[in-house]
Amino acid sequence: KSHRAAVSAEAYGDWNKKEDFRPRVIPKSQDQKERIAERLSKAFMFSALDEHEKEIVINAMEERIIGRGQTVIRQGDDGAELFVVDSGTLQCFKVINGQNKYLKDYNPGEAFGELAMLYNAPRAATITASSDCALWSLDRECFNHIVKGSAIRKRERYDQFLSKVKLLESMDPYERSQLSDAFANVVFNDGEYVIREGEEGNEFFIIEEGTAVATKTIHQGHPPEEVLRYSAGDYFGELALIKNEPRAANVIATSRLKCVSLDRHSFKRLLGPVEDILKRNARNYEEIIAKKK
Ligand code: CMP
Repeated sequence: KSHRAAVSAEAYGDWNKKEDFRPRVIPKSQDQKERIAERLSKAFMFSALDEHEKEIVINAMEERIIGRGQTVIRQGDDGAELFVVDSGTLQCFKVINGQNKYLKDYNPGEAFGELAMLYNAPRAATITASSDCALWSLDRECFNHIVKGSAIRKRERYDQFLSKVKLLESMDPYERSQLSDAFANVVFNDGEYVIREGEEGNEFFIIEEGTAVATKTIHQGHPPEEVLRYSAGDYFGELALIKNEPRAANVIATSRLKCVSLDRHSFKRLLGPVEDILKRNARNYEEIIAKKK
């Protein structure tokens, strides 16, 4: 055999493995499929999937009806499925230093039980239904083939970076790691506008690499004036999302600029824990402008 043939056989090895995977298909009505798609669109873990992958996941989902008070996941157990909440509410508890601590509620569109599957670890917390619930369950095989790889890569890629962003310092590491699932990458050239004053805004940005400047119209009839400079780890674009107002300033790249962005929905859900810090920091803007007037 020629060397060339050997190389291509190896290159196609991965393909063969994927081809061998026969995802389970659990019959569903069109209505149910649309409902799952709606729920998945809100669950960050699935945001990187393309349409074909989403369809595989939707087909593999199995409905679970859970009565109020029933425990779905028990801390310390082995786990073989991930759940997406369709209807109802559940509560998450974790035993920390012998104390059973309430962590959070789960509502429709949220996913849980991903950690055991991502890291082959025992269940890290207990999750109990606080009302009657309908859940969608995704089996480990489908999760491993379709979701796991890209989710782990994204989390690893951003782990270091996130630990250095000052805004996120106070966040629970578990909640912080979920930001990675929701991040989109955006790159701008030197001089390019990331945000324009007066426009509607739906995204929040954190700088991964590069620099930018914020400018704002302070004296009517005069060009916008510089109000802030940004570098790696700094964030911007939060104000329009917090206040539901048009963009209050321009943000312009002053070098090649690499950012991660969150859409409005992800921002509200994932950065809720630091909303007070965002609001407190926003008061500095007013001081900067007052000095220029
Ligand atoms: P898993 O460990 O598979 O099962 C328990 C789930 O609880 C876990 O995945 C997460 O989905 C969820 N969970 C919520 N908050 C936390 C937390 N702070 N630490 C660990 N797991 C959490």
